Amino acid sequence: MPTDAAPRPIHIAPSVLPADFSKMGDELRALADAGVDRIHWDVMDGQFVPNMTFGPGMIAACRAAVDLPFEAHLMVNTPEVLLHEYIEAGCQLITIHAESTVHLHRCLSEINAGGSRAAVTIVPSTPISAIEHILDLVDMVLIMTVNPGFGGQAYIASMEPKVAELRRLILDRGLDIDIEVDGGIAPSTIADATTAGANVFVAGSALFRDPAGLAHAVADLRTRAEAAQHGAHAA
Ligand code: DX5
Ligand code: ZN
Repeated sequence: MPTDAAPRPIHIAPSVLPADFSKMGDELRALADAGVDRIHWDVMDGQFVPNMTFGPGMIAACRAAVDLPFEAHLMVNTPEVLLHEYIEAGCQLITIHAESTVHLHRCLSEINAGGSRAAVTIVPSTPISAIEHILDLVDMVLIMTVNPGFGGQAYIASMEPKVAELRRLILDRGLDIDIEVDGGIAPSTIADATTAGANVFVAGSALFRDPAGLAHAVADLRTRAEAAQHGAHAA
């Protein structure tokens, strides 16, 4: 990991895809009690990805359950329209796919104008060059470490050089941008993702499947990421 700057805070952002949808409020409270930093809503429209998940009404209904920031990962074909609805539903950060709109610059500007923090997401095949002209509009870049659409997939380690390339670009330009990774983040993968330069981690399966419980899973991921970050800065 390029280490010219101070280490950025490690954030654990649980995907609620594996949660029990019939009691989402309770699930969010359990995640808050387990020490997560934000809630990551994987929004899917069944068009951009072959799955459908959370409408803005679901998120609005859950807004009062916890004080944690909500971030919406919009895997949708119409981000221009839907971004406003997810801001109104109570999301503090909206991330849209660079591949989902020709008017990426305009969409990100509208997220900022709507009072939310903006982020951009890229799928595994999309290069960093596709987003280099909009980095001034975002607080975060999400680099997918799986092909979007489903939880429980295998981590794509070949995304790590892309994370490192982005980290270097951010440092060279003196920008204040987090790098988030999403997909297959687990005890066995989070250290390498951190060393590459990520500091925000979306995890679904690794949290909900830990036999020792959510709090253990969150603490374990955080400890591993912080150790890797320290190691990189010690080098
Ligand atoms: C894919 C989703 C998943 C999910 C995380 O579209 O974005 O990456 O959040 O899934 P796990 O942590 O189970 O790989
Ligand atoms: Zn996601």
